[in-house]
Amino acid sequence: MDVPHTVATALDDQPVAGKRCLEAGAGVGNATAGLLANGAARVYAVTNDRDHARTTRRRVGNNGDGNGNSDDGDRLAVLEADLRAIPLPDGSIDVITAHGLCNVLDPTSLSAVAEELSRVAAPGARLVVDDYDPLPDDAAISELFAVENAASELARGRPALTFYPAAFLRRFFAGHGWEFGRERTLLDPVPWTESHVSAHADRAASMVGEYPGEPGDTLAATARRLAAEIGSESVGRMYGLAFRLPE
Ligand SMILES: C[S@@+](CC[C@H](N)C(=O)[O-])C[C@H]1O[C@@H](n2cnc3c(N)ncnc32)[C@H](O)[C@@H]1O
Repeated sequence: MDVPHTVATALDDQPVAGKRCLEAGAGVGNATAGLLANGAARVYAVTNDRDHARTTRRRVGNNGDGNGNSDDGDRLAVLEADLRAIPLPDGSIDVITAHGLCNVLDPTSLSAVAEELSRVAAPGARLVVDDYDPLPDDAAISELFAVENAASELARGRPALTFYPAAFLRRFFAGHGWEFGRERTLLDPVPWTESHVSAHADRAASMVGEYPGEPGDTLAATARRLAAEIGSESVGRMYGLAFRLPE
């Protein structure tokens, strides 16, 4: 599987070969693909989304023979689990990636996940955190994200997206015992493609699906209108932070 440029850049100064790795929040397995390509001994790809777990297994964990067989498959374990209670022992992981994870965690979840990442990390472990700075006020897509957050607050009582500034996560993970190593820019601007934009509108609409009438219908219609108006937009910055746990 191809390794996205952002993942390759985020990992290119990290000692991954021969290491036990964790992709926290596997999505479609992009960082897992990067860790395997860089020679990881083992990768645990953790997500709480069954479809994401399946997609990661399919995209990364097989050689296309239909049997799930490959060298990569032997080094990969996809775990469908909550990162607030990671099913791995204390001190068992050498390299952790959180690529695009923190923005989908509200502050309460972020705290619980950070506790767990620190627990499973071995002395001297590396942590790679790649995420998005808050968008400028004049970004059109901010309005769509605000509607998505309103839909999420209505349906689930918490925001869907929180964009933490790089400086915030730097201090936050330092507070969990991680020594800051470096920061780099992975994308500037971030290309929010038409399919990203419409996926966010669909997500907002599906979250309020159980709220027919006001305000659910209005939020869904607003999300769809905004997505159509925006199309695509290049705005904001994706950053990469790297940390190390003291020996
Ligand atoms: C935006 S995706 C991350 C993208 C992925 N790392 C990549 O590089 O393509 C966020 C992932 O984190 C997962 N996630 C969010 N909160 C979680 C939690 N509490 N426990 C486990 N997985 C979680 C989501 O289900 C999703 O798979």
